[in-house]
Amino acid sequence: MKTRITELFEIEHPIIQGGMHYVGFAELAAAVANAGGLGIITGLTQKTPELLAREIARCRDMTDQPFGVNLTFLPSLASPPYPEYIAAIVEGGVRIVETAGRSPEKYMPALKAAGIKVIHKCTSVRHSLTAQRIGCDAVSVDGFECGGHPGEDDVPNMILLPRAADALKIPFVASGGMADGRSLVAALALGAAGMNMGTRFIATKEAPVHDNVKQAIVAASELDTRLIMRALRNTERVLKNAAAERVLEIERQKGAAVVFDDIREQVAGVYPRILREGILDAGVFSCGMVIGLIEDIPSVKELIDRIMAQAEGLIRERLMGVLGAAA
Ligand SMILES: Cc1cc2nc3c(=O)[nH]c(=O)nc-3n(C[C@H](O)[C@H](O)[C@H](O)COP(=O)(O)O)c2cc1C
Repeated sequence: MKTRITELFEIEHPIIQGGMHYVGFAELAAAVANAGGLGIITGLTQKTPELLAREIARCRDMTDQPFGVNLTFLPSLASPPYPEYIAAIVEGGVRIVETAGRSPEKYMPALKAAGIKVIHKCTSVRHSLTAQRIGCDAVSVDGFECGGHPGEDDVPNMILLPRAADALKIPFVASGGMADGRSLVAALALGAAGMNMGTRFIATKEAPVHDNVKQAIVAASELDTRLIMRALRNTERVLKNAAAERVLEIERQKGAAVVFDDIREQVAGVYPRILREGILDAGVFSCGMVIGLIEDIPSVKELIDRIMAQAEGLIRERLMGVLGAAA
């Protein structure tokens, strides 16, 4: 399959593994790169730019294929040293950056001067148009289904993707709810040039997370996510667990008066205990509705090969077949 995304990033398959806090380590990014997709290391999971440089070097040892780094611009006052993280990316020879969160505008000159291709993840057409205007090479359009932060507009991909296709000149991938060959063919039909997956990649052999997390994803259905932090206008889709129920209870009690400190215990700094130690109720963690479509824990290569084979089969047999039947 050749699309504007495979050409832009010089990858074999139009499949991207989105940055994921405490999941996007070198092992996963390299496995995706070796399987022909675009693997992405999560920049801020590395506590310092020096540690990110080390993680990039580790990934380079595991693959000779292109991979990227995610830089999430947080809505927090204590801002990480982004210029130094960017320096680590540039010096590490990485040529692809996935940005997310706030607009990357301030950092575009530095990224572009280093010849880096930027794909910005957005949850709305208006933010996608801003990304295009400030010089991003592509966008990842993240629908309401997605794991993590779906924004506040609540527009699912069935509407958001064709709207993006009508509005954008730069290529985009569909993100949120993507799991298999059906997702990929649908994404292409709706105007995307590929797809970005988060949650699906957690339930793979190479994802360096505790088995409890993978098993929980396999066991869950599409009804098992919750939206938290709505009143803070920092909505996050998380797996339903005891911590998520606690956050929702606090939010119900406090209403519009809720502040971050009220839920800090369930939300801040909890990822290592959940994802590394496998203590699922230690806090909340991002998770997409796509868990309803995840039934196994394949290797990354098995997953990507299966997606591509299913997509090709769907195009050749089902879609062409529909035309044949009509003729
Ligand atoms: C556990 C987890 C952690 C995530 N962390 C980040 C992050 O740090 N930065 C980011 O830009 N996106 C993050 N995401 C979002 C993903 O990159 C991706 O956009 C999203 O998972 C797509 O939706 P899906 O889960 O339905 O595939 C995270 C998602 C998950 C599931």
